[in-house]
Amino acid sequence: MEEKINQISIVYKQKIDQAKNLSDLDLIYIDLFGKNGEMTLLPRQFSKLIKEELKIISPLFNKIKNYLSEQIELKRAQIKEDSYSKLSTETLSINEKINFTLPKAKLHPLTVFERQTADIFKKIGFSQFEAPYIDTDYYNFEALNIPEEHPARDLWDTLYIDSEKYGIQPGKLLLRTHTSNSQLRILKRYNPPIRIMNIGTSFRYENLDARHEHTFDQFELVFVDKNLSLADLQYLSEYYLKEAFGQQMKARLRPKYYPFVEPGAGIDALCIFCKGQGCKICGNTGWIELAGAGMIHPKVLENAGINPKEYSGIAWGIGPERMLMLKYGINDLRLFRNGDLDFLEKLEIEEKR
Ligand code: DAH
Repeated sequence: MEEKINQISIVYKQKIDQAKNLSDLDLIYIDLFGKNGEMTLLPRQFSKLIKEELKIISPLFNKIKNYLSEQIELKRAQIKEDSYSKLSTETLSINEKINFTLPKAKLHPLTVFERQTADIFKKIGFSQFEAPYIDTDYYNFEALNIPEEHPARDLWDTLYIDSEKYGIQPGKLLLRTHTSNSQLRILKRYNPPIRIMNIGTSFRYENLDARHEHTFDQFELVFVDKNLSLADLQYLSEYYLKEAFGQQMKARLRPKYYPFVEPGAGIDALCIFCKGQGCKICGNTGWIELAGAGMIHPKVLENAGINPKEYSGIAWGIGPERMLMLKYGINDLRLFRNGDLDFLEKLEIEEKR
């Protein structure tokens, strides 16, 4: 038996040394340690041995077993190492070096765009604020003049958190549907005059298609002062467009309903493709919808303890993905988050132009 074990060791060590590739090694491994492998079957004969023999054989068997599996692993590592270096010398010889590392990390084009947008508003005194992504229905809806059971809630397809297991009543905890959940927090935290912006991700229960994602970004402004009016909203919107897309840009306000602003406005930008002439992208109107905005509803100001007779406010929100889609004619919203490096790289080049 002792001889047999030593024999296996010598024969297989030789086979391992001669193995040319990983599949050779796999076969050797199966021959040794597979279901019917030599080292698997051998211990079945140990029952025939007497105690004294077993005292010698058993440690020897274990030693050789460990030795052979170690040799297989070493050889495996060596084969891998050899094939990598062979690959890079071969490719070097055809003048094409393969880089096995990932491309250098860069900021996502959306982040770059958002930082640029933030800089545009920093210049006129806005500072940044963070609001939670998981929030209560109070900050996301109630405080914004959207009571429970009010049909306006249907404007936002909401993802509710299964909160019962945390002892929270169902329907009270949700993923924020918009960055407007920052509004009341901002109004409560700061005394007017207020100039704050909030950038971040929002979530909705959407049927996914080229124009709808469950996860997307929003950019929100809250501006409170004495005697603000729609004229200031018009100015603010046009200021942004001119800074972001050039001095020829114009903004147009249209009446639009949002429960937390009164009057509410949809803000259109002069179509960046046809500069107002009318084209396919703007549906021949010369204008493209850019933002939701309005004068902060007196009730919302009151909820924060601000006297609506003394102060007025502007709330303004855009979708950064939508802005980039318009800017570069991107036709599928889902591209922003599906990790398609080709798309991201092309977009980055566009941004640099
Ligand atoms: N929160 C709105 C949405 O998600 C967008 C919006 C509309 C923001 C009007 C505002 C606003 O600040 O005044 O659809």
